[in-house]
Amino acid sequence: MRSKKVITLESGHTVNHATQKRHRTIGRVCRLGPEHVDLLVPTYRQVYGEVMEWDEYKRCEAEGCQNGLFSISEYLQRYQDRRQKGENPNHCDCGALLVDRWDSDTVSAHIHDEVISHPQGLGVVQFQLLVNEDKERELGTAAAIIGCALVGFAWGYGTDARQLEKEKSIPGLAEAVNQNFGGYEVFYQSEWGVVSLCRGTGVGTNLFFCRMQAAINAGHRVGIFRTNPNARSNSAERRWGYREVLRYSEPTVKGGISLVLGGELKKVQQTFEELHAQELSSFAHISPGLNL
Ligand SMILES: CC(C)(COP(=O)(O)OP(=O)(O)OC[C@H]1O[C@@H](n2cnc3c(N)ncnc32)[C@H](O)[C@@H]1OP(=O)(O)O)[C@@H](O)C(=O)NCCC(=O)NCCS
Ligand SMILES: [Zn+2]
Repeated sequence: MRSKKVITLESGHTVNHATQKRHRTIGRVCRLGPEHVDLLVPTYRQVYGEVMEWDEYKRCEAEGCQNGLFSISEYLQRYQDRRQKGENPNHCDCGALLVDRWDSDTVSAHIHDEVISHPQGLGVVQFQLLVNEDKERELGTAAAIIGCALVGFAWGYGTDARQLEKEKSIPGLAEAVNQNFGGYEVFYQSEWGVVSLCRGTGVGTNLFFCRMQAAINAGHRVGIFRTNPNARSNSAERRWGYREVLRYSEPTVKGGISLVLGGELKKVQQTFEELHAQELSSFAHISPGLNL
């Protein structure tokens, strides 16, 4: 067996000094297809489970329970605490069971409904590939991949705002869209997320841009989406040219209020290109697959 210089840190983690400097990561954006669903489901659950704006990892089964939603970290902490106290870790303080806020079957069906089997659905996913540089020099990149994770997604679908109003229960949506954009046809930017360990480095911007390009190429004129007024992402979206179209009460989300933002896609694209002129050459390419 090859000997390895492994160092154990105080935290208990191990670092392999013989290999750590010889890995690099590569990002790849691919068009979302049926082959991605199994990997996308846990990524989706992680994204909405780990951030303050949503905290949608577990929920109490009892309707109207004040404890409501739990993030991944809250859930893990209380699991340990309750076990130590000899209490059932999967129960809420009210005594009811904690269940997945977005269980895997629901998420999988959601992706199928909105993208895979939707006639006007389209999306992109971002992979982070870990490559062994030594092997890469010898055998080429494709043979040197030693890790592959789906770290982000952006998808949506073309629809009529009157139908969307009913489907998503957004009162007043259709007229608000018509007043702002002179028509009901929209591209609904349904989901956009990046796992927290990869946030803040441009992955989300890249995915947002790729989805926008794909929507423009498919002939869509207006992009709209629903969001939470406290979501940090709103500042970037407003900067890219989206404006508030509607604000309404939605008791099932944290904070109880939702917003709909919208913009004309070609104008947004122009603003986006001006703001991100330098980065655009290095990102914004959709690969046909993991082709390297
Ligand atoms: C929104 C999100 C997809 C952006 O992905 P990202 O890879 O972090 O994006 P970028 O690094 O390209 O930064 C783009 C914007 O994302 C937001 N962002 C960046 N880091 C973030 C973080 N750690 N947490 C939340 N939002 C963040 C900021 O608004 C940023 O714009 P800014 O530079 O003006 O602050 C990602 O942060 C996320 O998944 N957040 C949780 C889910 C969510 O809010 N989805 C969108 C609402 S529907
Ligand atoms: Zn409860």
